[in-house]
Amino acid sequence: MACTDSDYAYLREVVLKQSANLIDPSRNSLFDAKLTPIVHNAGASDLQDFVRLLQTDRRPHLHRAVAEAMTINETSFFRDVKTFNLLREVILPDLVERRKSRRRLRIWSAASSTGQEAYSIAMLLFEHLPETAYWDVKIVGTDISQRVVEYAQRGRYRRLEVNRGLPARMLLKYMTRDEEEWEISPRLRAVCEFQQMNLCAPLPPLPVFDLVLLRNVLLYFSQDDRGQVFKAMHRVSAPDGYLLLGNAEQAEESTNLFQAEFTAESFFYRPISRV
Ligand SMILES: C[S@@+](CC[C@H](N)C(=O)[O-])C[C@H]1O[C@@H](n2cnc3c(N)ncnc32)[C@H](O)[C@@H]1O
Repeated sequence: MACTDSDYAYLREVVLKQSANLIDPSRNSLFDAKLTPIVHNAGASDLQDFVRLLQTDRRPHLHRAVAEAMTINETSFFRDVKTFNLLREVILPDLVERRKSRRRLRIWSAASSTGQEAYSIAMLLFEHLPETAYWDVKIVGTDISQRVVEYAQRGRYRRLEVNRGLPARMLLKYMTRDEEEWEISPRLRAVCEFQQMNLCAPLPPLPVFDLVLLRNVLLYFSQDDRGQVFKAMHRVSAPDGYLLLGNAEQAEESTNLFQAEFTAESFFYRPISRV
């Protein structure tokens, strides 16, 4: 049986509750496309039968699986050239200068998907600021989806993934080939760690971060949730730290917390200190 509008409304509600992601009703057909494996694994005959199962037998893992399956995990190494130019030329050198006496850097790839963003930052540091190889550096990647977190932890990428955005020289220097896959080198792995985390739920204890990358995830949240996420980002940001958003994203909800600064090509945010 085909799903009714109220079945889809229920599925959208499950996603909203679990991950704060808003799904527009015009995209209802995505549920049919993306939930098929979960529907079968749960022993339901079709999506409508599965909705009944969710409604009657409130197994939390099934609700989480629905939200996870509906996430959009699009990412790539060095995604958005301008942003990575800005990191290489302005942000990372400035942070390294400011932190040279403590020799410690904490970077957060919030919504890290399959890990390419975090590993790209590690490559930039090793390549352009080699002194940081002897520092206490941690790049923490977090995502709501346990599946992509495990993928990032595994640190093995298919040819199609390394062909997107990773310069050949970096590929050969920082990854090794193992049959059809490329594996992140142990020295990059040593500075990157990944964990499951919902940005819209109360956050676990976190260190103070020098740089937060919050890219290409805000668009899935309501304005209220975006406001809450900015507050959380402000709490964990060093007063002289940086916040980077996706290219098409702006931080209107955060104007009392972060201020935009501009360089020739790109812009970024700095926390506004509370008095
Ligand atoms: C489009 S990817 C962006 C990945 C990377 N930041 C980039 O820009 O390439 C968005 C990621 O946000 C994650 N996500 C969605 N809602 C989330 C939430 N409430 N908390 C944490 N991560 C979330 C998704 O699982 C997905 O992997």
